[in-house]
Amino acid sequence: MDMTATGLGEPLLMVPGPVPVSAEVLAAAALPPVFHHAASHYRLFDETRAMLAEILGCRGSVEIMPGGGRLGLEAAVRTTVGPGDRVLLCSNGFFAGWLEQIARRTGAAVDVLSDPPGSPADTARARAALAEAHRGGRPYRLVLAVHCETATGTVTPLRPLGEACREYGALLLADAVSSAGVIPLDMESDLVDLCGTASQKGLGSLMGLSVVGIGKRARAAWAEESRPGCDSFALDLTRWRARPGDPTVLYPVVPSPTLVLALHRATRLLLDEGLKARFARHEAAAGAVREILAGAGLKLFGSSPTSGLTTVELPADVSASRVQRRVLDEHGVLVATGMGADVQRLLRVSHMGLQAFPEPLRRTLGAVLGVLAEEGVPVAGPAGAATPGTASDTTAATASGTAAGPPSPPEFPEFPELSALPATGTPETPGTAGAGA
Ligand SMILES: Cc1ncc(COP(=O)(O)O)c(C=O)c1O
Repeated sequence: MDMTATGLGEPLLMVPGPVPVSAEVLAAAALPPVFHHAASHYRLFDETRAMLAEILGCRGSVEIMPGGGRLGLEAAVRTTVGPGDRVLLCSNGFFAGWLEQIARRTGAAVDVLSDPPGSPADTARARAALAEAHRGGRPYRLVLAVHCETATGTVTPLRPLGEACREYGALLLADAVSSAGVIPLDMESDLVDLCGTASQKGLGSLMGLSVVGIGKRARAAWAEESRPGCDSFALDLTRWRARPGDPTVLYPVVPSPTLVLALHRATRLLLDEGLKARFARHEAAAGAVREILAGAGLKLFGSSPTSGLTTVELPADVSASRVQRRVLDEHGVLVATGMGADVQRLLRVSHMGLQAFPEPLRRTLGAVLGVLAEEGVPVAGPAGAATPGTASDTTAATASGTAAGPPSPPEFPEFPELSALPATGTPETPGTAGAGA
């Protein structure tokens, strides 16, 4: 398979963002510059916002800002809280740490509920904290949660948090940077008031845009007259276009029209595939990847894994960053390590969007397992795959502590587990758009 022709590119990006983008998205980004106040561009901009609203299940409005996930999340937090407000953060990993920094900089009082990496946030504990603050007459105004903590690939269910927020008068903001377009997310039924994502992950486009879903409760809270309002020129979301299709309202900062064109194409392709079909494809990829990696003897990490990403925990004496470097240098595939001080032994393989097809996964898993075997990890090949001096020998030798010399990598076959996935020819690959589900 010619990876470049499918838009996958070299090196093959198997990290949870930026992800490979389809050739159609690249072609959209290669069009001549567009005048950002052209009526045709406003139309395209609003179409993109409408498609994003469908993807996020947002019945309010969606704003597209320049920047990335962090910028939109900061805008949403800064527009909502300031000095004198209370914020509750559900933290279970690295990216929650960024939300904490963002929230503290507003001058609000921030309380953090921490859960260990790999576990979802404890929503019952959050509910209890909300109830207690409410009883004490100093209720939380905003609850922050990371829907998919990308550092470990862990999903926290949002609906229980949303219900507790409704009950105790708080707004719920979800960091959906690595969940939107990857796993089911519906702001309306999950009771999420604000959500932030970015263009370069599940949405399947280029890096550079921030996407913020704004629910009606959030807008109503921003409109409360007694409140001082956000003091930022660019990050005050009440200043962003609230009236779709009205070209007389300008954006405080102009998002690159070229990136908007690319995102328009990517969201169209995503909806052509269909959200359900896309989520099912991610599930199938996750199932196959986990079967292969666990079958090879590796330890899967986390109790609530996303279907967009698989995380394995390497043995204590193996360096994840060394494995990552070798997989890149020797096989041209970029995989991710864990993020945060306590998760350095984790190796992450992403399977969202274009990554969740048999060919890139076959190449990635072959490379990862091959390097791990060479690093001395007792990796078992699929039944019948091991050849003399390979996986089975390595396992036996390591187990008995008599390994002599570097083990040879096992030969991995075609990974029949991957045949459960659709091959190319889905709407996301070039020249074949149309078969919606
Ligand atoms: C869960 C999560 N939140 C926030 C971010 C930050 O997004 P960006 O790098 O686009 O600012 C990321 C990026 O990986 C993420 O995965």
